[in-house]
Amino acid sequence: MKIAVMPGDGIGPEVVAQAVKVLRVVAPHAETEEAAIGEAGIQAHGVPLPQPTLELARKADAILFGSVGVADEADIPRERRPGTGLLQLREALTLYANFRPAYMFPELIGASTLRPEVVDGLDIVIVRELNGDVYFGQPRGFETNEAGERVGFNTMRYSESEVERVARAAFEAARRRRGKLCSVDKANVLEASQLWREVVTRVGRDYKDVELSHLFVDAASMMLMRRPKQFDVIVTGNIFGDILSDAAAMLTGSIGMLPSASLGYNRKGLYEPVHGSAPDIAGKDIANPLAAILSLAMMLRESFEMEAAASRVEKSVRAVLAAGYRTADIQQEGTQCIGTRDMGDAVVEALRKQAA
Ligand code: IPM
Ligand code: MG
Repeated sequence: MKIAVMPGDGIGPEVVAQAVKVLRVVAPHAETEEAAIGEAGIQAHGVPLPQPTLELARKADAILFGSVGVADEADIPRERRPGTGLLQLREALTLYANFRPAYMFPELIGASTLRPEVVDGLDIVIVRELNGDVYFGQPRGFETNEAGERVGFNTMRYSESEVERVARAAFEAARRRRGKLCSVDKANVLEASQLWREVVTRVGRDYKDVELSHLFVDAASMMLMRRPKQFDVIVTGNIFGDILSDAAAMLTGSIGMLPSASLGYNRKGLYEPVHGSAPDIAGKDIANPLAAILSLAMMLRESFEMEAAASRVEKSVRAVLAAGYRTADIQQEGTQCIGTRDMGDAVVEALRKQAA
């Protein structure tokens, strides 16, 4: 087990450190090696995805990722933007299917901003395409129009094969769950989405046991707030998936709870919390490490086929929540607020108890 550890920026290093603590207990034989990415990559080597980091990613079996980003990132030129490091890594390793589960821990129902009956029992997965769309489409850039005004432009593009591979990943996931897949697009306006819908429908003929539906992204975002439990698996493009997965995460009370897996053609995956680098709370020992710890559980399951270890980690997280421990983002009346490190220790403790 060779695991590349990429803590990144902001709260990334703090939360990843907790996940590594948990790893040492569930897989003591795992080898880890750290590499810099994002702003940390720029500080160390001048670019957001340094060469040694990419090499490590190529030879590792899996990547445990924290988060990248600094405040006011939009003002920085693209090639020096921390987030660019993550995008380049997803592209270089062809990690095209991003699984973002939004699962309601019963202990946290009160932490959601939605009414309990709306989110009680929520268990959905967003499968976000990760290698195409306006994120990577060419042409892109800035130009000057006839009026002498600056214009910024991007291109939304999807090829049939790009849609097909992520659609298959999503149908497979739906098959292992409740057998429902909703494809989200904007086919009433965009050609890229029209093609998306055609291809998903065609692939669906190979998955007759999965109930396929389609929604436009605006309606889907409304339905996510109104009746989120109607969904099982959602498959969507890169930009819609970016937006919808943050919204879905918040249904569960805190984006600090949500893990993700980015997968490609083999078992190698990149595992990261859905949350960002949160520079405003970095270094304060208040960030929630549970998304990072749950990302580790996804890694054990998907990259190493260690189902038993994965569910032990998830059970330990449940146990810690049931015991009333909370980080600030999920604090409720009658619970005990603890810091990042203590939360990591609490999960480790719960793991040890399970083993005993
Ligand atoms: C995410 C993030 C990234 C994205 C950023 C950091 C480039 O928002 O993983 O959702 O837009 O994909
Ligand atoms: Mg995002």
